[in-house]
Amino acid sequence: MENNVFTDQLRRLYPKGSVVAVVCNQFGDTGKGAIVDRFMSIADICVRAGGGDNCGHTIEANGHKYVTHIIPSGIIYDELGLTSVIAHGVAFNPLTAQLELEEFSKAGISHNNLKISFRAKLIMPHNIFFDMLSASLANKSKRIGTTGRGIGPVFNDFVSRIGLRVSDMLDYVVMRDKLNLIMRDKIAFLHSLDRDMLKEILNNERLEKGRFYNPKSILDVDKIVERYLELGTYFKDYICDAEAYIKSRLGKDTIIFEGSQGALLDINLGTYPYVTSTQCTAAGFVSGANLRAQDITKTLGTVKAYMTRVGEGPFPTEIGCYDAVSRYQEISEEFSTVPIIEKMNSKNQIIQAGSIGVIGNEFGATTGRPRRIGWIDLVALRYAIDINGSDIAITKLDVLTGLKKLKLCVSYRYVGHDVTYIPLSNNEYLDRFIPEADILKHCQPVYEEMQGWEEDISQVRAWSDLPQAAKNYLLRIEELAHANIIMIGVGAHRDSMFFK
Ligand code: IMP
Repeated sequence: MENNVFTDQLRRLYPKGSVVAVVCNQFGDTGKGAIVDRFMSIADICVRAGGGDNCGHTIEANGHKYVTHIIPSGIIYDELGLTSVIAHGVAFNPLTAQLELEEFSKAGISHNNLKISFRAKLIMPHNIFFDMLSASLANKSKRIGTTGRGIGPVFNDFVSRIGLRVSDMLDYVVMRDKLNLIMRDKIAFLHSLDRDMLKEILNNERLEKGRFYNPKSILDVDKIVERYLELGTYFKDYICDAEAYIKSRLGKDTIIFEGSQGALLDINLGTYPYVTSTQCTAAGFVSGANLRAQDITKTLGTVKAYMTRVGEGPFPTEIGCYDAVSRYQEISEEFSTVPIIEKMNSKNQIIQAGSIGVIGNEFGATTGRPRRIGWIDLVALRYAIDINGSDIAITKLDVLTGLKKLKLCVSYRYVGHDVTYIPLSNNEYLDRFIPEADILKHCQPVYEEMQGWEEDISQVRAWSDLPQAAKNYLLRIEELAHANIIMIGVGAHRDSMFFK
């Protein structure tokens, strides 16, 4: 782990024994991975307490880029004694986890200090299968655009109190009986569907290419049990009472909670129903790792300097349309001789969104899907800050370089039916975020425009070196979103982050 000015500043702000929740204040993909990675220089423990392998955290270390989906980012520092914990709030996919650990082993990264809660929800092949099946069966208007990782279905099983948990991988009888119970009601339904479609889904790589297919029952319980017991043997030494371990280290160790997704995707507080199925806020860590509310000493919310969203759902500040980045890619040949700066400032919103998306490399780390692009939404940010706390880290500021005009959404104009229970009337101006898809889809953004900057800021490492226009932009975000900017990121490289 490095020892530099940044680390010293981190230590001053987050002294030994701190419990820091790093969470996203937008729709995910705001660079939490890189920030958590910087925190590893002062951390003793890195915890995941929510989400599943629907996340994709990109970390750069030792000159390599790593993407983890389920294993905490702290694993990179395992050899230096850092403990990585997967707490019970997580939906644990052992198939992904095994692949990731094997990849890390190949890269010479150990996992001796990994701990997995025996109570974490266990993602089973049928969960992944039903997630993919729902996406195939849903008509476009009903689609959530999930990552297909089985997150919704695993929580379905869990709240129905029939779900499997990590410790079940260690017990043949429990696993077989639970699976038989779950599958009992599903077989007749599966037989009513097109067999080729089912086979194709089961042939997916994430379902080990047909390994769990059975012509009679579609999903073969015996094969699943056999594979999961094998995984139980693989993970046996890591499975433990992870929450008791975290509790025993409170006040002694510096503990960094690595968030998943973002506040606006939270199951309770996000843009329901276009949300994930877990809690994604600092408060979510409290229940996801058995903490007391006061155990979290600091929160840090990540905020991208613009905004992105993957999958369906309302996005009031979206530029262009849902598939702007893909459409841009299709026509980009035509514009190949136009300088990128000109494209970013294009009046054609597809070209503008597309070029921002390409400069910002806005493609999902988990699914590779192009992300939707939008201007920063300060109404939504104020809402997220109200939930997670005011300290924020701004990321990817460099992507905006060259834009002549920056737009900040400061309020909405509501253009829908009157809603008595909020209350809300047609044509009313709204300065608060109402996390309801049916309301948000009728919210038109009201923008304030600010001057952009042209200077390359990717090498800037101090607030004082930022162009005045960039400072003005950040100060306006602070003012309107009631935020306190702690750090700023100006590039993909791990060192491209500095304190305000
Ligand atoms: P699920 O979590 O796979 O069920 O997907 C539900 C919604 O959350 C979809 O719109 C996904 O695109 C979105 N989502 C899930 N994980 C992430 C993430 O890590 N980043 C951004 N969006 C995500």
